[in-house]
Amino acid sequence: MSKLVVIGSSSMDLVVSAAKRPSAGETIIGDSFKTVPGGKGANQAVAAARLGADVLMIGCVGKDNYGKAILDNFKKNNVRIDYVEPVTHYDTGTAHIILAEGDNSIIVVKGANDLLTPDYIDKAKDVIQAADIVLIQQEIPEETVEHVAELCHSFQVPLLLNPAPAREISQNVIEKAAYLTPNEHEVTILFKGLTKDEALKKYPNKLFITEGKRGVRYFDGEKEVLVPSYKVEAVDTTGAGDTFNAAFAVALSEGKSVKESLQFANRAASLSVTKFGAQGGMPTRDEVERKLQA
Ligand code: RIB
Ligand code: NA
Repeated sequence: MSKLVVIGSSSMDLVVSAAKRPSAGETIIGDSFKTVPGGKGANQAVAAARLGADVLMIGCVGKDNYGKAILDNFKKNNVRIDYVEPVTHYDTGTAHIILAEGDNSIIVVKGANDLLTPDYIDKAKDVIQAADIVLIQQEIPEETVEHVAELCHSFQVPLLLNPAPAREISQNVIEKAAYLTPNEHEVTILFKGLTKDEALKKYPNKLFITEGKRGVRYFDGEKEVLVPSYKVEAVDTTGAGDTFNAAFAVALSEGKSVKESLQFANRAASLSVTKFGAQGGMPTRDEVERKLQA
């Protein structure tokens, strides 16, 4: 069992399904409303645990009902929560999601996730040092990502940065992370002035551009490789990226090759989109392996 540490957001997803998105000033009638656990960090932790890793989450929730529900959900999914602190004065983070016309649009209100500071991370230095891999995303303060990149680098623990949602990051973080997994939009913000191909060439076996339905692209040192994704009937693509990142990290930490790890991650992500909710449909290890053998 490999040891994964996930550092990131935990939120409650408030999901409205409707036939279309309202335009500015318009009111429409929707089809349904559901409340499900989400947040990129929590999603990645749950996905990795379902895939059989020993997962420890570092994060913050509010001392409110959403926070309680998120902690229960971690326990149900075997994610260790010694470093998920319920804080006062801040509400649990929320993500306001509209599912319409086969796609989602999301507004994130970070709430307690903003209290995941460098000082808070320092309390968990020992577990970070003991990890096989650390996973982090960008729904938490920028200086925390910077700090974690420094720590992981000094401990020689590989860091996978999923730079979502998009924001600029320092060259220091780019250099110190072991793996970067932007989508096509995020990569343009990360590497201003470089074309996609130039960026891939500059960071062989480190930069992985996720291209949704097409698959994942990287440079293997000699050539550009596209590892295709699997075709499925998508019900809800929310959290597909989180499943991908978690599965990729789990496979890498077990010593699988980059290519094999990407195939494993694509398979896991393709299963996750067949059910409603970011965490609905996140597969178990067995489910992914059965599909890979089929
Ligand atoms: O990556 C998907 C997640 O992003 C959702 O669960 C939602 O919380 C948003 O932040
Ligand atoms: Na899903």
